[in-house]
Amino acid sequence: MKKLCLLGLFVSLASHQVLAATTPVPLENKDAFISNLMNQMTLDEKIGQLRLISIGPEMPRELIRKEIAAGNIGGTFNSITRPENRPMQDAAMRSRLKIPMFFAYDVIHGHRTIFPIPLALASSWDMDAIGLSGRIAAKEAAADSLDITFAPMVDISRDPRWGRTSEGFGEDTYLVSRIAGVMVKAFQGAGANAADSIMASVKHFALYGAVEGGRDYNVVDMSPVKMYQDYLPPYRAAIDAGAGGVMVALNSINGVPATADTWLMNDLLRKDWGFKGLAVSDHGAIFELIKHGVARDGREAAKLAIKAGIDMSMNDTLYGKELPGLLKSGEIEQQDIDNAVREVLAAKYDMGLFKDPYLRIGKAEDDPADTYAESRLHRADAREVARRSLVLLKNQNETLPLKKTAKIALVGPLAKAPIDMMGSWAAAGRPAQSVTLFDGMNAAMADKATLIYARGASITSDRKVLDYLNFLNFDAPEVVDDPRSAQVLIDEAVKAAKDADVVVAAVGESRGMSHESSSRTDLNIPASQRELIKALKATGKPLVLVLMNGRPLSILEEKDQADAILETWFSGTEGGNAIADVLFGDYNPSGKLPLTFPRSVGQIPTYYNHLSIGRPFTPGKPGNYTSQYFDDTTGPLFPFGYGLSYTDFALSDMALSSTTLNATGKLDASVMVKNTGKRDGETVVQLYIQDVTGSMIRPVKELKNFQKILLKAGEQKVVHFTISEDDLKFYNAQLKYAAEPGKFNVQIGLDSQDVTQQSFELL
Ligand code: NOJ
Repeated sequence: MKKLCLLGLFVSLASHQVLAATTPVPLENKDAFISNLMNQMTLDEKIGQLRLISIGPEMPRELIRKEIAAGNIGGTFNSITRPENRPMQDAAMRSRLKIPMFFAYDVIHGHRTIFPIPLALASSWDMDAIGLSGRIAAKEAAADSLDITFAPMVDISRDPRWGRTSEGFGEDTYLVSRIAGVMVKAFQGAGANAADSIMASVKHFALYGAVEGGRDYNVVDMSPVKMYQDYLPPYRAAIDAGAGGVMVALNSINGVPATADTWLMNDLLRKDWGFKGLAVSDHGAIFELIKHGVARDGREAAKLAIKAGIDMSMNDTLYGKELPGLLKSGEIEQQDIDNAVREVLAAKYDMGLFKDPYLRIGKAEDDPADTYAESRLHRADAREVARRSLVLLKNQNETLPLKKTAKIALVGPLAKAPIDMMGSWAAAGRPAQSVTLFDGMNAAMADKATLIYARGASITSDRKVLDYLNFLNFDAPEVVDDPRSAQVLIDEAVKAAKDADVVVAAVGESRGMSHESSSRTDLNIPASQRELIKALKATGKPLVLVLMNGRPLSILEEKDQADAILETWFSGTEGGNAIADVLFGDYNPSGKLPLTFPRSVGQIPTYYNHLSIGRPFTPGKPGNYTSQYFDDTTGPLFPFGYGLSYTDFALSDMALSSTTLNATGKLDASVMVKNTGKRDGETVVQLYIQDVTGSMIRPVKELKNFQKILLKAGEQKVVHFTISEDDLKFYNAQLKYAAEPGKFNVQIGLDSQDVTQQSFELL
């Protein structure tokens, strides 16, 4: 699914004189070292450093190396093995100033071992598990000679029509911000200069998740308060955690494309937030300034981007072509170029590459004999993280867990789908190494019983959709249409169901349906699969839906049809085993939704922490003249924070240590949590706060803290949260970040809706 591009490989720059011969400066002194290096660089060499190219299989390697040796390329992405990258670094070492290259890649949720998609990681609400996934991804990527990843992606997504919802961590500012920090620290480990670390470049700066209508690449229009309050904090959290890079978003914000936005990159990012790292444009984004209609031509586009603070241009030629002329004409200053070059060199310095350009490439004799060797994978960790990310949405009559000795019919187009199991942006993951649900269930049942399998349906029977989903799969189509008729497939599945005690249906989206450029107008399970579910329901056999999807789906009907529903997202290399662990009760599910499931697409946006309104819908009261859609039930299908367990938990005795709080004080909010069921289990205790009256309208509630706890059957525990004034601050109409005295409601629950409440006064 990778875009391959020859664009911009050959740039010829006029040669320039060396500016000054200087004496070497010790490497320890970063600023002096870089200044000294820059003093020796020609203009061409400087501009060369600003060029980041995508390496495709079809690209002539010799020419690339020539360009590198001439000092015309600063880094690559998509070349991902030591034998591939070593010759390029060798070429850099043949260049006049021996400035090392860096090698980048989209390491989003794993590298060789694929972990659950980010949305699934967020569903674990387990910072240790999420951190572990990032650390392992970094180790595996660094071992493959990679220096930097274009991750974490921390765009808040509140419109599930947007296909990239799958790549982010959901709708909530607090949760996404927490994860942003964890991921940056995990990628960068002991430091971005460590041999087993990769530098993190947080993306997509900024607000990409708010594209209008959820249509990818569309405009973003947003009030400053919403921006500061809800959408910017996750990027800030990543930067505060030390992210070395930022990828700038493809979208425009309030009329200005991010790639040309001086306010965004200079005033906010660098001046206000103190960011000192590398700002990279997204793929071809400088060129797209012409399409946005803010640049007449490539020359103006390059000028806008460099002036705005884009250091490195990803896969377009405009910096190389236009910067020399712009400088000559005085339209840009030497300082504009130097600022960018300094940041590229500083990033390379921070990655440890000046000290050792081969830090992650290593010696040829140590290269793995087999890049894809099983021994390079971290299967046990992937399975553990994946099972923590699964969310049980329904479990009527204790349909789950299943007995391993039961006669089970496994049906559905996603039951044997190794590619889909990995999800989109699966880095260097290999489908052949991912465990399908069929494999996982079979392994769990071993010789106890035999799984009866039938495909039951194709992912979709809509030819146009199918073609769209396959348009980037050059080698082989990812989404394969079954040549048999829909009725033949369903008949086979119904027969399997009739022969079984229980039916498990693996249904949902192919991974490409939740990807870049995969926005949908409809959040239903595709019609071909809905027909299958209907037919399975008609057999009267207990029906378990195993959902695979990269966004919330509107499963109103299926919620009634199914006896149990397990949301598994796309759970990665060990997905099949992890799902089987939950289906058979070897692991008690503990995931919680990181975003709201709407009843229908028409309800969007459905995020839980919406602002208060004058005429809110009030359940149980007459409906007229309150805010609602009259043709459907009000409220989400499944709320934010929701997820069941095989055991039950009860909350009681919520208490606040005081009914008042002063600006320097602290308040303790506590609740008794009891495992009232028969199994040990984990749950996530969630703390929400509502600012009841403020100088401007405030959200009905906001997540402010949570704890994931394990309780043995029958065990109870008091969970404490500390609340301070910081938790109550918000950006007011003047964008002043402060708390306002008055009443606050504190709510504690196991999801965002079913809560118990107490109040206090901020003095
Ligand atoms: C475009 C995507 O928007 C971005 O997220 C990704 O990092 C780059 N392509 C490079 O693959």
